[in-house]
Amino acid sequence: MNDGQELRRRQAYSIGDVQVVPAAAALGAEIRGVDLTQALSAETLDAVNQAWSEHEVLLFRDLDLTVEQHLAFAGAIGDLEPANLATPLTAKYPDLIEISNVDYDTGTPVKNRLGNSEAYWHTDMSYREVPPKASCLIARELPPDGGDTSFCSMYLAYEAMGDDLRAEVEGLTAVHDESRNAAGKLREGYEDVTDPELTPGPRHPIIRTHPVTGRKALFLGRRPYAYIPGLSVAESEELLDRLWAHATQARFVWRHRWRLGDMVLWDNRCSMHRRDAFDGQYRRVLHRTQISGDRPY
Ligand code: OGA
Ligand code: MN
Repeated sequence: MNDGQELRRRQAYSIGDVQVVPAAAALGAEIRGVDLTQALSAETLDAVNQAWSEHEVLLFRDLDLTVEQHLAFAGAIGDLEPANLATPLTAKYPDLIEISNVDYDTGTPVKNRLGNSEAYWHTDMSYREVPPKASCLIARELPPDGGDTSFCSMYLAYEAMGDDLRAEVEGLTAVHDESRNAAGKLREGYEDVTDPELTPGPRHPIIRTHPVTGRKALFLGRRPYAYIPGLSVAESEELLDRLWAHATQARFVWRHRWRLGDMVLWDNRCSMHRRDAFDGQYRRVLHRTQISGDRPY
């Protein structure tokens, strides 16, 4: 068994002018010394991409970015993907999603969409045939506490699988439910189908290869209503439960407590994330961009 940690440095280091401060956890690093209000030079962008390949999730702090600057940074990482939800800002910025618990008409907290409840472990938009490779989330308004976002390394989860479990899932695919969001709410236009064999959504390999690093990662997407074609529902449920229990162990996780001025770039090809619930009387507003990816293989 190999826990993969030799592939990731744990001490702070620099790549040119870019400082990389690894999180004291399985994944994640803070990036310092980059001015995100300006277009990045080729060297700086290379350094950021190199650190991202190594740490999966990057944190930038103490920012005061305009929406345009956020879009420009995400656009330097890759092509932006249009928002999958229409919100008032989307009319002006079609690539921006507001992750918020605020009612757009009244400006008060509500439980719409992700609301203030827990968002369970997931990979963004894995229910697409070609899911985005990354998401870039910037905090605009935060509650006094709660709403932490945790990230889980699917490289480490893959590498720490026992040989038996790995052999069991090699070559298998899973269906990723496209009908419900990460808070379990049914998306508009979908029926409430509860038989996993009938779950709508694409089939993706359970073990995927990262197109940039070449490393293998577990790819689970989202647990509810997932299904492994070729198995009975009972077998599929049993195997998925084992995979999820394995993949979401604390030793693969980095938990991020948000501060205003934080922006996090995460790699959907090798990580999952979840969000804690928070007190629904407070406003929590973040802006997300999605960066296009390739079909998982
Ligand atoms: C997301 C997401 C978590 C959060 O933006 O994709 O899962 O902390 N958000 O709001
Ligand atoms: Mn998400």
